Amino acid sequence: MAKKNSAKTDKKSKAPLEPQAVKERKKAPAAPVETPVEAAAVEKPVAESEPAAKAVEATAAESEPAAEVTAAEPVEEAPAPEPVCTSPRRSVAFIGSECYPFVKTGGLGDVMYALPKALVKQNCDVKVILPRYKCIPWEYQEKMIYRGAFNMDLCADGRSYYVGIMEYVWDGVVYDFIDNEEFFSSGNPYTNLIDDIPKYCYFAKAALAALNYMDWIPDIIHCHDWQAALIPVYLRTKFVNTKLTTAKTILTIHNLRFQGIYNIPTIRYWSGLPDYVFNKDALKTGRNDANMLKGGLTYANAITTVSQTYAGEIQSAWYGETLDAHLRYHAGKLRGIVNGIDYDIWNPETDACLPAGYNTSNVLEKKRENKRKLQEELGLVQDDGKFVIGLISRLTNQKGLDLVNAILPQVVDDYTQVVVLGSGDKVYEDSFRYYENACKGRVCANIMYDEARSHRIYAGADALLVPSQFEPCGLTQLIAMHYGTIPIVRETGGLKDTVEPYDMRNNSGNGFTFDRYDAGLLLDAINRAKAFYFDQRKHWDEMVLRDMEKDLSWENSAKQYKDLYLSLT
Ligand code: ADP
Ligand code: GLC
Repeated sequence: MAKKNSAKTDKKSKAPLEPQAVKERKKAPAAPVETPVEAAAVEKPVAESEPAAKAVEATAAESEPAAEVTAAEPVEEAPAPEPVCTSPRRSVAFIGSECYPFVKTGGLGDVMYALPKALVKQNCDVKVILPRYKCIPWEYQEKMIYRGAFNMDLCADGRSYYVGIMEYVWDGVVYDFIDNEEFFSSGNPYTNLIDDIPKYCYFAKAALAALNYMDWIPDIIHCHDWQAALIPVYLRTKFVNTKLTTAKTILTIHNLRFQGIYNIPTIRYWSGLPDYVFNKDALKTGRNDANMLKGGLTYANAITTVSQTYAGEIQSAWYGETLDAHLRYHAGKLRGIVNGIDYDIWNPETDACLPAGYNTSNVLEKKRENKRKLQEELGLVQDDGKFVIGLISRLTNQKGLDLVNAILPQVVDDYTQVVVLGSGDKVYEDSFRYYENACKGRVCANIMYDEARSHRIYAGADALLVPSQFEPCGLTQLIAMHYGTIPIVRETGGLKDTVEPYDMRNNSGNGFTFDRYDAGLLLDAINRAKAFYFDQRKHWDEMVLRDMEKDLSWENSAKQYKDLYLSLT
């Protein structure tokens, strides 16, 4: 994931590349400028508002397809899905920076794939808008269909930028990729803030302009994380005179740590947004910085985050990442809706990555087989009697890896193995490599991103560690439970909402938990799990079955999103 970068530069001087199709565009007739409802809540002294003529010109440029562009080619229509629900139909543009299987660096990619699919079943017409990164595998690129192109102004200097739209239809969901080689050809997909700030200013504006171009006016524009956070701001400023202005916006926070902060001159230059949005109630933060996420939170009609507990936590100074006061101010439009997992992708019975598929009727036997194969694949001592603990994670301090490092030597013993799969910060990569060396045959550090191997670890491990410092939702504990692997988690964010601690009095619960961020407490939770595994196998096995049967699908949460869409429209 992109990281907040403290390095500040005055203004980004990016040498302009050859624009793909720089042509002047025909302006639409001027329309009256209205003060947007949401913007009225923001400090907007009359003297500071954009000169009307300028605003109209910009808006017109965004609303009209370029006169010279090639007409959109006929495109394969999404097969009309069978609506299984009777709630009224709503159209939703889903906009974010990554989406499985095209590009994924973490859970956002999973959600961007699975939630639209689940919304289709809730009688929604969904279009997902994504950047067309060069790193998207060719097998998808080659299936994309050219949908059209136009030019768009972006920065304060009025330069014109190419916006291509490439379309891909799959499972009842339409994916529209915004094409521009200047912004999307480097990185995987994030690079550093110096490049990412212009990239996502461009993306936010181009996504809206593309909707206008396609004349697809959704009821809801659902934006995800800071990379799409300028969309509500653009919609209520630069696009206020377009048809799109009827759409309601939702901004979902997947991770408050990443906000898209840079100095005001740079963000003002690249976004081309009017001066009045750079005030303390909207984008401005600190003395001279602009915060893209903060601006989006101000202008969005609704804010969601990915669990109820995290929705509460982020309003406190500890978890609020300096936006707690802002979030408390907007608490009336903030709510938490927990993530689910996609049961087609995460299905231990049909999972093609597993040596032995299984369901609740044969999990105990098949899990042992998966464990042995996993040990063989990873060069660990092959013994299905050992307790295997997995950890699948971005290697960053969010994930509680300091705690893991502090106690790892006390965890591995003759009966216990630890399997790590992750990449990220060098300090963690190195320490896990060190432990692999120091505890040969007992610890395996897979310092890489490997989707297929992750499936085999979910299936072959007995327990999965998620001791996060903070965790907006967390998907790995959900996948683990669905694969009959017992989660050991810290009680924070979505981990708290999804893993009920084991209660020996009535033999209930889904995993082992600890509360304070403390290595001793993590060790204690692991030891409790270990003792339970070795001494009370019957109850352990019951928990395995309970976890596999727990409803972790998207259905419930998709219904809650649908209700939110209905309440806004
Ligand atoms: P986050 O989004 O904070 O990284 P989540 O738990 O929400 O955390 O989602 C992580 C997703 O990324 C899961 O689908 C997990 O399986 C996957 N993942 C994380 N690291 C790896 C890795 N090294 N290889 C394969 N998949 C990984
Ligand atoms: C973020 C969070 C994670 C969440 C994911 C999907 O990356 O760190 O907790 O599950 O987004 O919402």
